[in-house]
Amino acid sequence: MKTAVVYYSHSGNVKDAAEKIAAALSARLFTLEPKKPLKGTGFLSIFKGGGQATLGQKPALKSIPDLADFDRVILGTPVWAGKCAAPVNTLLASGALKGKELSVFTASGGGDDRKALSQIAAAAQVPLHTVSLIDARVPASSDNGTKIDAFIEKLKD
Ligand SMILES: Cc1cc2nc3c(=O)[nH]c(=O)nc-3n(C[C@H](O)[C@H](O)[C@H](O)COP(=O)(O)O)c2cc1C
Repeated sequence: MKTAVVYYSHSGNVKDAAEKIAAALSARLFTLEPKKPLKGTGFLSIFKGGGQATLGQKPALKSIPDLADFDRVILGTPVWAGKCAAPVNTLLASGALKGKELSVFTASGGGDDRKALSQIAAAAQVPLHTVSLIDARVPASSDNGTKIDAFIEKLKD
């Protein structure tokens, strides 16, 4: 099965997980890069990005990955205002995930990614496997390694 890991990451948590998952599964790695990236990591960036996610905005990306050759996509997103990060909305709306077997990993500060997962299921399909990671700056992230390993094992089946 040809697998692509597609992710957006603002501050590196999803990127780290994406690289680990792609390496373990010998998958091709694609990153979503907005033409106008969110700047900084302070309150203003949370306000701006949170607003984009709440409004369901679809910021223009440098490119939409060509997933035609892949049967399976493992999608990674940070949680923004409870939802998918806005650049992921652009991918979901592009139709690039149509017909793909989908699994999802998220990273958040608090662990609640239910709205983000519902949003993905509404736009693409219900993910087969999911894992909810916690930002590495938060103590509850100590389980991330175990969670990613278990996620990878399921994807190897
Ligand atoms: C714009 C913005 C909004 C966020 N909103 C939430 C949120 O609603 N709930 C939450 O648990 N974490 C929230 N976070 C924290 C991120 O989900 C968390 O730091 C995640 O690990 C970031 O992933 P990244 O490092 O790959 O960008 C938010 C962060 C940003 C930048």
